[in-house]
Amino acid sequence: MKSGLQRALGAVSLVFIATGALAEDHVGGDPEKGAKVFKKCKACHSVGEGAKHKIGPSLNNVIGRTAGTAAEFKYGPSMIAAGEMGLVWDEETIAAFVENPKKYLQAYLDDKKAKTKMTIKVKKEEDRANVAAYLATFSSEPEAEGEGETASE
Ligand code: HEC
Repeated sequence: MKSGLQRALGAVSLVFIATGALAEDHVGGDPEKGAKVFKKCKACHSVGEGAKHKIGPSLNNVIGRTAGTAAEFKYGPSMIAAGEMGLVWDEETIAAFVENPKKYLQAYLDDKKAKTKMTIKVKKEEDRANVAAYLATFSSEPEAEGEGETASE
């Protein structure tokens, strides 16, 4: 009895470890490739010195930012609600968000009526991870999402 349970628990924690490692691999994008992907975002967002809000908020220091909280940008109510519920941007959440921003907020808020003015969808998983890694280079805490581990290898 006991040993069976222990074995089961052991298997469960192994799965957790494996999933964690996988998730990190997926999110550890390439910032240089991400710069190319960011061309798609430039119509609405800017980064770097002197970046201003355009149609979308400036994405400087977006890593660690609570969703919907850049000063002086007028967000939609769903984005603000997501931030209030605890959504914080890191490479992982950004990569997931850009796959389908509206769906992401709908799922996050559990509200089918949630919407956003950000309409672009980035289809390729690789592009999503890369653009998230690129954005991390414009944030003062890029190592927050395990990037530091990759860099110190
Ligand atoms: C058509 C214009 C448009 C494009 C293209 C666009 N965005 Fe956005 N983005 C927005 C708008 C508008 C918001 C604010 C959404 C809201 O308030 O609902 C936003 C919000 C965001 C946020 C949340 C920021 C915050 O302060 O909470 C992130 C992250 C983001 N965009 C990343 C990207 C990335 C990465 C790309 C390129 C793959 C991209 N966006 C392309 C318009 C755009």
